[in-house]
Amino acid sequence: MQTLLLLLGLVFMLSTATATDFNKTLEAKSLLAVDCWKYETTSSYCTWFGITCNEEGSVVQIDAHSCLLKWLDFSLLPNLRSLLLDDCGFGGVIPEQIGLLSNLTHLSLGRNYLYGKLPVSFTNLTQLEYLDLSYNSITGILPSQSLKNLVHLDLSGNHFDGPIPHLSVPWPISPFSI
Ligand SMILES: *[C@@H]1O[C@H](CO)[C@@H](O)[C@H](O)[C@H]1NC(C)=O
Ligand SMILES: *[C@@H]1O[C@H](CO)[C@@H](O)[C@H](O)[C@H]1NC(C)=O
Ligand SMILES: *[C@@H]1O[C@H](CO)[C@@H](O)[C@H](O)[C@H]1NC(C)=O
Repeated sequence: MQTLLLLLGLVFMLSTATATDFNKTLEAKSLLAVDCWKYETTSSYCTWFGITCNEEGSVVQIDAHSCLLKWLDFSLLPNLRSLLLDDCGFGGVIPEQIGLLSNLTHLSLGRNYLYGKLPVSFTNLTQLEYLDLSYNSITGILPSQSLKNLVHLDLSGNHFDGPIPHLSVPWPISPFSI
């Protein structure tokens, strides 16, 4: 009996820990607003190229390098944990809206044409473990104080100044360059 209760408790914990409320229509809308998936023949976006969903069917990972040409509406993707958008041809500054993704653990925006400072809201990305901003023209400082969970950091080919964060995993396990 005790084991059963324990098990039930665990199942309950796991199911409540998983997802933030999301709206399938709006998640689809945010994906369809960019060109990447316009030729997909099914409407269930969890099977689309580069998309991974959780059990509830909400997007947790977008791996769309070389595909996206404009930013997604992040406010419609509340469960996103991993955003991999290398080589997407993005110019300009990283949108302030990225700060809405406060549960993001992986962010990769390498080899785009991003410039300017990181948005102030970047301090919201406290869960980041993997950050690759390599080969852009980003300036200013990285908000190291907020990025305590980093184990992989690549800032090479930019114009950052200021202190470099202390990574959670010591060299040489963490590939680290600037
Ligand atoms: C999802 O969003 C659409 C568009 O705003 C809305 O019409 C619909 O009622 C929402 N669905 C749920 C379950 O909230
Ligand atoms: C982050 O995840 C937690 C736990 O799943 C959730 O309660 C919270 O709403 C999420 N935050 C955002 C901004 O989605
Ligand atoms: C930071 O994250 C919180 C939720 O965790 C959100 O309410 C807030 O709008 C975010 N701030 C910015 C600037 O995106």
